Amino acid sequence: MTGSTDYAREYAQSLSDPDGYWKSVAQRIEWIAPPTQIRDVSFDTKDFHIRWYADGVLNASVNCLDRHLATRGDRTALIFEPDDPNAEAQRITYRELHARTCRLANALRNLGVRKGDRITIYLPMIPDAVVAMLACARIGAIHSVVFGGFAPQSIADRVADCRSKLIITADEGLRGGKRIALKANVDAALALPGTNSVETVLVVRHTGAAVAMQMPRDRWVDVVVDGQPDTCEPEPMNAEDPLFILYTSGSTGKPKGVLHTTGGYLVYASFTHERVFGLRDDDVFWCTADVGWITGHTYIVYGPLANGATVVVFEGVPNHPDHSRFWRVIDKHQVTIFYTAPTAIRALMREGDAPVKAASRKSLRLLGTVGEPINPEAWRWYHDVVGDARCPVVDTWWQTETGGALITPPIGIDAKPGSAMKPFFGVQPALVDAEGRLLEGEATGNLVLLDSWPGQMRTVYGDHQRFIDTYFRAYPGMYFTGDGCRRDADGDYWITGRVDDVINVSGHRIGTAEVESALVSHAKVAEAAVVGFPHDIKGQGIYAYVTLIAGETESDALRAELIAHVRHEIGPIATPDHLQWAPGLPKTRSGKIMRRILRKIAEDVPDQLGDTSTLADPSVVDSLVRNRRGA
Ligand code: WTA
Repeated sequence: MTGSTDYAREYAQSLSDPDGYWKSVAQRIEWIAPPTQIRDVSFDTKDFHIRWYADGVLNASVNCLDRHLATRGDRTALIFEPDDPNAEAQRITYRELHARTCRLANALRNLGVRKGDRITIYLPMIPDAVVAMLACARIGAIHSVVFGGFAPQSIADRVADCRSKLIITADEGLRGGKRIALKANVDAALALPGTNSVETVLVVRHTGAAVAMQMPRDRWVDVVVDGQPDTCEPEPMNAEDPLFILYTSGSTGKPKGVLHTTGGYLVYASFTHERVFGLRDDDVFWCTADVGWITGHTYIVYGPLANGATVVVFEGVPNHPDHSRFWRVIDKHQVTIFYTAPTAIRALMREGDAPVKAASRKSLRLLGTVGEPINPEAWRWYHDVVGDARCPVVDTWWQTETGGALITPPIGIDAKPGSAMKPFFGVQPALVDAEGRLLEGEATGNLVLLDSWPGQMRTVYGDHQRFIDTYFRAYPGMYFTGDGCRRDADGDYWITGRVDDVINVSGHRIGTAEVESALVSHAKVAEAAVVGFPHDIKGQGIYAYVTLIAGETESDALRAELIAHVRHEIGPIATPDHLQWAPGLPKTRSGKIMRRILRKIAEDVPDQLGDTSTLADPSVVDSLVRNRRGA
């Protein structure tokens, strides 16, 4: 098979001469000063550093916009499909996107924003979100996009952590016909402690709803950009200058600010976007992620726009007004590459084939998935029904931390349903056992990466030690992904899911510690332990065990109140699916909660609890098993 020979040859070359390989790949983007230094990496915790293209100078927005003006200025950059299917779609050319970005960038500079300042973006999936990100990149400000589904406390935590100077939001968002009070959420966030770094709130007029404007802090975007020139001098950025921060959940504590820098990230985003999807010039690329997640950053904004591609920006949801929505949008905009999450595929599969058949989907030529393991049944349905058995499926494994796809089926190779298949060029995955011994051949273990790639995160914002401790301490000299994985006899990789205390709910990462701290922030809760459990549609669901403070009474009303409290503190994505009263939690004699046992109870496999002899009080387990799900 030529696909596999071509892949094997290029992969071998990428490892035998990484400097030569990544030097030549870097030529795909436009540099103000091309890099002469390529790779400078040590995963050794005593001499830790990750630098790529360290003497290169560039601007990401120039690569995504200006660079295309001469050759494809009139090409559509964004196709905006609004939430309401009867509202008019918009097509925005590269020339228009450039002008809009420059106007906002000028306005930001006028408001005192300078290189290195942090800007929080809390917007719906509308073109203004892309404009806001690129405007920050243009002037060297570091954007931190916060998903529009997060609650005020989560916004406040993220604003406080990076000391944002300015927030860009909208009056409201729309999702499936429902209005989301974005500006009101920002107001509530800014009333919380730790947020006094914010000087200005820019508000996009989206639904036109009346919102409270607090002068002089709050300004309408259309007013501040009015009269701004539609060109703007780009800030020259060193390759290792930060491009953005994106908060993601880990196994402990508050979400961490994953920091990506400019040169390596942009090279990796654009290169993977072309090679993972086999991009062609006439493609219409649709990634259904939200720009609030890394998938949106890399495969809606930076990768596709650096490649001069046409991308769909979709504000809506897959099940509104009906379950044909995705497939009709594909027909309407003649989408050729469609990239979505397994959870959406499973939810739509449940509705049967008819909603899919209501659209022709003839324009499609490639399908992709990301965010969580895809079960073979869902993969087959996606391939056979959505893709009419004629479109390859690429199951792309990666993380916020990795910047772009790392394990993915090479174009031209038949993928196995449920397997992410092979490492991308330059990427060296390996499996280790609990002691860190490398496993050879067919094996199951913890997934690590033996060497760096240009899109790798560089630090946890404001806490470099946490970066080193989280990813490089468990297995010295290697990056630990937090995922479990199996490698089959052909050397193909099958990701099995997180092995740490991160839950993957519908492709969204949620730290058990975050949900626990939301629960214990309620006055009636003494202690809480949260685990994931298998869920047919979401992949994993959230299962909470709660101990009330003495004197409080368990009731269905209180259960509902606690679930609502978590939604209110973090956002709807963190809503517990089950909340079980736990008069006691299984703890070791040193007081550590044994989550392994709680996971088995949540999974309803009480015969697999394993050794409980080290528990301080083994009887709490019997009581939890008896009262599973509060039954
Ligand atoms: C999981 C999303 C199996 C994995 C890009 C990883 C996957 C976490 C896949 C990162 C896949 C992502 N197959 N599991 N194709 N893609 N994951 O940071 O557990 O939101 O560690 O990045 O999602 O989630 P994140």
